Amino acid sequence: MTKRLYIETVGCQMNVLDSEMVVADLRKRGYELARDLAAADVILFNTCSVREQAENKTYSALGRLRSFKKQHPDKVIGVIGCMAQKDQQLVFSRAPYVDLVVGPGQLARIPELLDDIAGGKGPQIAVSLGRKDGPTADIKRSHETFDPLRDPTMRPTPFQAYLRIQIGCDKFCTYCIVPTTRGPEQGRPPEQIIAEARVLADQGCKEITLIGQTVNSYKYSSGGTTTRLSDLLVSLSQIDGIQRLKFVTNYPKDMTDDLLTAVRDLPKCSPYLHVPVQSGSNEILARMKRGYTVEDYREMLDRIRATIPDPAVTSDFIVGFCGETEDDFQKTYDLVAECRFKNSFIFKYSERPGTKDAELYADDVPFEVKNRRNNELLELQNRISEQDSQRFLGERVEVLVEGPSDRARHRGEDAGDIVQLTGRTPCDRIVVFDGNPRLIGEIISVAIYEVSPHTLFGAVVTQEAGQTLLSVG
Ligand code: 5AD
Ligand code: SF4
Repeated sequence: MTKRLYIETVGCQMNVLDSEMVVADLRKRGYELARDLAAADVILFNTCSVREQAENKTYSALGRLRSFKKQHPDKVIGVIGCMAQKDQQLVFSRAPYVDLVVGPGQLARIPELLDDIAGGKGPQIAVSLGRKDGPTADIKRSHETFDPLRDPTMRPTPFQAYLRIQIGCDKFCTYCIVPTTRGPEQGRPPEQIIAEARVLADQGCKEITLIGQTVNSYKYSSGGTTTRLSDLLVSLSQIDGIQRLKFVTNYPKDMTDDLLTAVRDLPKCSPYLHVPVQSGSNEILARMKRGYTVEDYREMLDRIRATIPDPAVTSDFIVGFCGETEDDFQKTYDLVAECRFKNSFIFKYSERPGTKDAELYADDVPFEVKNRRNNELLELQNRISEQDSQRFLGERVEVLVEGPSDRARHRGEDAGDIVQLTGRTPCDRIVVFDGNPRLIGEIISVAIYEVSPHTLFGAVVTQEAGQTLLSVG
C-alpha cells in the first residue's frame, strides 16, 4: 500500500533544499505527499537551531501531537535537520513518542530507518559526528549530503531551484550553532555541481540559486587546480536554459575581486549580494569573531559598488548581542544609515548552548532592550528600502514570474482569469502585477507605477508593431 508523507520545513534555504531531497528520495520508493498531517503515515519536521524560538516552535508542534500519536500509534513521527543533530537523544526525552531523529548529514538514511521502524525495531536515530569526535575525514564524511536527487514538484516553483555547492561552515562565529550542526566546510566537486545544474535545466529550471553558509568561500582543489565560485559561475553560465544565477550567503572577508568581476561580466549573474555585516561596532564584531572590522566591510562595499553597476546589497544584523551597549547599537544604526542596504534581516540575539558565546559571555541585554533596538533598526531599514524603491517609479524591470500573489491565492482566483501575479527582478526585488497565468515561468518586462518598502507594483509591458503598450498580458 502507498504510504503518505507529510513534511513541514522551517529555517534557511539549506532546509528547503534538504526537504526537496528527502521527498524525492521517498517518492522514488513509492511514497506520496499528503496534503495535511492527519492524512499522513509519516510526519517529518525539518528543523532549525539558529535561534531558540525556532526550536520552541518545533517542540510545541511536537507537543500538540502527543495525543494524536496515542490515537494513531502506527503513524511515524520524525524530527530531522539541525535541531535533530543538536539535541539528539534529548528529542526523545522531550517528546518520547517521536520515532525518528536524523541530522542533516544523515538524511539519505531515512528510507532505511523508516523500514526498520516499520519492521518493529523501535525508535531510530542517525546523527553525524561532533566536531571533535574523530579524524577529520570521518567527521566530514558523516556530514556529507546527498544532492543529486531533484524533485521539481517539491520546489516553490519548477523553474527556480537551489543548488548546494558547499556543506558546513568553518568560520565559528561565536554566536552560531551552524558549524556544529552542519559540520566542517566542504566544497562539492565542480563536475557534480555542473551535472546537477544540467539536470535542473533539463527539468525546465531557469533560475538557480547556489547555496552555502559562506558561499563565496567556495573552493575545490583537485589535480593541481582550484575551482572558485567565480569559475563555477562561468561554467554554469554556459548551460542553455539557465537564465539567472544567484548565490547566498556571502562572507565579507571572502568577497574577492575575481567574484565581483564575474558578477559584472556574466549577463546571467544577478547583481544581488547578500553579505551580512551583523554589527556596526568593532568591539562586538571582535567578540563575535567575525574576522573583519567595520572599516574592512566599508572597503568591501566600496569595491562592490565600484565594480558592479547598481548592485543590490543586503545584510543580516544581530541586535542585543552579549554586552552590546547603547553606543555599540548606535554604531550599528549609523552603519545601516550609511550603507543603505536594499534590505536587512534583523535578529534578536539568542544564546545557543554549545557555542563559544554561551561559554564565554553573559546574555545580558534585557529582552525589552533587544526588542526596542530591533524595532528601531527595522524602521530605519524600511525607510531606506522605501526610498530605494522610489527610483523604480516609471521604470521598467525584468521579472521572472513566479505565480499568483498571496492575495490571489487567498481569494482562490481562477487560473483562467487575469490574476494578480508576483515575480522577482534580477536584484531580488518583489514585483506584483496583474496578468494571465500563462506568463508564469516567463521572464517579462513590467512597468512600475507604485512602490512600497519591499514591493514594486506594475503592469506588464507588451511590445506590438514597434509601439509599446501597457496591457495585462
Ligand atoms: N542569535 C540570533 N541570530 C543569529 N543568527 C545566527 N545565529 C544567531 C543567534 N544565535 C543570525 C545571523 C545570521 C542569520 C542567518 O541568523 O544574523 O546571518
Ligand atoms: Fe554561522 Fe558565521 Fe558560519 Fe554564518 S559564517 S554559518 S554566522 S558560523
